[in-house]
Amino acid sequence: MAKLYNKPLFGLDLSTTSVKAVEVERRGRTSRLTGYAIEPLAPEAVSDHAVVDAGAVTSAITRARKGAKTRAKYVATSVAGAAVITKKIAIPAGLDEYDQQSQVEMEADHHLPAGIESMYLDYQVMGPDPSDEANQLEVLLVACKRDVVDGYMQAIQAAGLKTSVIDVDPFAVENAYELGAPAEYLSKTVALLDIGSQVTNINVLHQGQSIFTRDHYFGGQHLTESLAESYGWDPAEAEQRLVKGDLPEDYSQRALRPFLQNLALEMGRSLDFYASNHPDHAVDWVVISGGCALLPGVSEALEGQLGIQVTIADPFQGMKMGRILNWRKLKAVAPRLMVATGLALRSFDP
Ligand SMILES: Nc1ncnc2c1ncn2[C@@H]1O[C@H](COP(=O)(O)OP(=O)(O)OP(=O)(O)O)[C@@H](O)[C@H]1O
Ligand SMILES: [Mg+2]
Repeated sequence: MAKLYNKPLFGLDLSTTSVKAVEVERRGRTSRLTGYAIEPLAPEAVSDHAVVDAGAVTSAITRARKGAKTRAKYVATSVAGAAVITKKIAIPAGLDEYDQQSQVEMEADHHLPAGIESMYLDYQVMGPDPSDEANQLEVLLVACKRDVVDGYMQAIQAAGLKTSVIDVDPFAVENAYELGAPAEYLSKTVALLDIGSQVTNINVLHQGQSIFTRDHYFGGQHLTESLAESYGWDPAEAEQRLVKGDLPEDYSQRALRPFLQNLALEMGRSLDFYASNHPDHAVDWVVISGGCALLPGVSEALEGQLGIQVTIADPFQGMKMGRILNWRKLKAVAPRLMVATGLALRSFDP
């Protein structure tokens, strides 16, 4: 959410399995994908969404930048997981910028747990407070542990780049979704699920506004582990084989199907939790992204459990393809690039 410079930038998603980069150009109302890359990371180089092995992350960033053929020096990146707290608060309307900031800091002290000094704070005014309190504004407050943000920025800097924007994964997913979303989404309730390796980020949009976000600690890592166990591979080999589609014939029965059943149950739990908090806004559609959206049969497994229409996100819907991009290769990985694409689009935000 924080915008530090106003320069051409590319999106850089530093996550558990990989560094993902996306560059988008916009001329008038046309957006064009000009480059992308997914560079695998060694297990534990990024863990719990914090940089553990800075050298490995920096060299993957350098490879991703080359792979995406971008010359931009500035990046938009995002934080996720337990290091981040987002909360909606209300503050009085009509304050100048200085007083607004002081008010937000005061409220943050009330609403966030102790130790706030070790966190970076940012906020965004969403509009009038929907709870109808006279003259109040609704504000989205975001706090992230300083050492986590600093770890990301240092790895980026060591690759010769500058961090221009720091966002939060579920909001980057929302940004990517909005570009190609059908117009009806503005009158619907849409649950965006980015199902990654360690975490599924959930963001429910009601009439185009985020009303619920949650991290659910469940993802493709369970599948990778079960493959590793079933076939005696180490987790890195299991991950590589999954990416390449180089799997034994009986993998579906031994690992995929049980994983999909589990995934559907877990997502059902999260959406039940959402429903108990927002009984008035039942989810109309579910849109999935992240690596697990590539699994055969995933939408059917989720639809069967949830009883809601499930579609697979295409972050490049409505975009033109630039230069030498191979459309088929891109299609095979597109949902994994949802966060990086949402980040790349931040360069066009006012
Ligand atoms: N064809 C595929 N290619 C890559 N990953 C896949 C594929 N099918 C399923 N997966 C699963 O998706 C996961 C990778 O997804 P993704 O790239 O979205 O995760 P991530 O962003 O690195 O993780 P996180 O967001 O939890 O940090 C892998 O752990 C793997 O189990
Ligand atoms: Mg991810």
